[in-house]
Amino acid sequence: MTEIRKGLAGVVVDTTAVSKVVPETNSLTYRGYAVQDLAAHCSFEEVAYLLWYGELPDVAQLQLLCRRERAQRRIDRSILSLIEKMPESCHPMDVVRTVVSYLGAEDAGIDPDGIAAPKDLLARALRLTAVLPTVVAADMRRRRGLDPIAPDSHLGFAENFLRMCFGEVPDQRIVRAFETSLILYAEHGFNASTFAARVVTSTRSDLYSAVTAAIGALKGPLHGGANEAVMHAMLEIGEPERAAGWLRGKLAAEQKVMGFGHRVYKNGDSRVPTMKAALDDVAAVTGGARWLRMYDALERAMAEVTGIRPNLDFPAGPAYYLMGFDIEMFTPLFVLSRITGWTAHIAEQSAGNALIRPLSEYTGVAQRDLLVAGGVG
Ligand code: CMC
Repeated sequence: MTEIRKGLAGVVVDTTAVSKVVPETNSLTYRGYAVQDLAAHCSFEEVAYLLWYGELPDVAQLQLLCRRERAQRRIDRSILSLIEKMPESCHPMDVVRTVVSYLGAEDAGIDPDGIAAPKDLLARALRLTAVLPTVVAADMRRRRGLDPIAPDSHLGFAENFLRMCFGEVPDQRIVRAFETSLILYAEHGFNASTFAARVVTSTRSDLYSAVTAAIGALKGPLHGGANEAVMHAMLEIGEPERAAGWLRGKLAAEQKVMGFGHRVYKNGDSRVPTMKAALDDVAAVTGGARWLRMYDALERAMAEVTGIRPNLDFPAGPAYYLMGFDIEMFTPLFVLSRITGWTAHIAEQSAGNALIRPLSEYTGVAQRDLLVAGGVG
């Protein structure tokens, strides 16, 4: 009997040099650097460069990357009207996915017979990284009945995005907390959305198709959508004192508590302490003590009942809420960051490609004769 590993759990399907997750020590490294060190000392732009090129940039390399990123932030009228045409009832992830697809259709440089060369892939990765914040901010504002704000090329990636969303650059502690979330979300091995991107790339399809598939995978509540579900749950609970009872009820009903558990980490997600510190900073600025108490109450109750620890989405959800984002925008924020990891993997898959085509064990009806009037044939 063939051993079936449902969900590919524990199956090593390829090698990668982009990041390493070590469940035993709860650690995550990007190109060899611990993610918490990168979050403490680097900008998001430096981390993007590291993921794409394998090394941290020197001053000139960083300047060049930033210049190129800042020069490509604007969206033209056709993209704005595409965003406006999308129903407001749709999830903002549908907007991001559709815009990426449209950008692919617009990109005349994509060879219909094959994926772009590695150099061109990374140029396109940078273009998407530059433009998607403008798309997400414009969509967020139109949902609030506000006009879009044009990007400001004098500002860094995080500051510019926050200004495009809220009309001004917030307190630097908020900016840094947001940038920390971008760095922590940027890359995470063969997670579901990255794997989806690699599957599409393996057929020698184009980068936009791969990213579109990744966005679709990220949207689900078992993956990126969990940061939204966390905040919905916290709002439903309302008061920290109700958290333990709510959680016990959920578990008794055999429902998952979003923001807890992880396929790889079984003893805690390495990114949580850094993001929790960022959440504390945001709460100190915005006065979110109630959500910190809620965080503690849920974490404690979950540990008591199941021993399951929080994942990155647990602190990220309330942090984004306190920063002022609408809940439905949380997963698109994840996209703005993970686009760097996805595209690093697309480049890696493309360079050492093998078509990803697993097998399945058939459990349907055994082969049988087709009965037609007068017999077969
Ligand atoms: N709440 C309640 N029970 C849980 C949870 C949870 N969040 N996570 C795991 N369990 C239980 C699960 O019910 C199962 O119990 P049993 O063996 O009695 O059936 C056991 O723990 C193993 O869970 P699993 O779902 O089989 O494990 P998995 O490795 O397939 O799941 C997971 C990983 C992330 C899908 C799961 O922990 C989950 O659904 N968590 C909630 C959603 C979430 O927060 N997702 C974000 C993941 S991290 C960010 C990202 O990468 O996108």
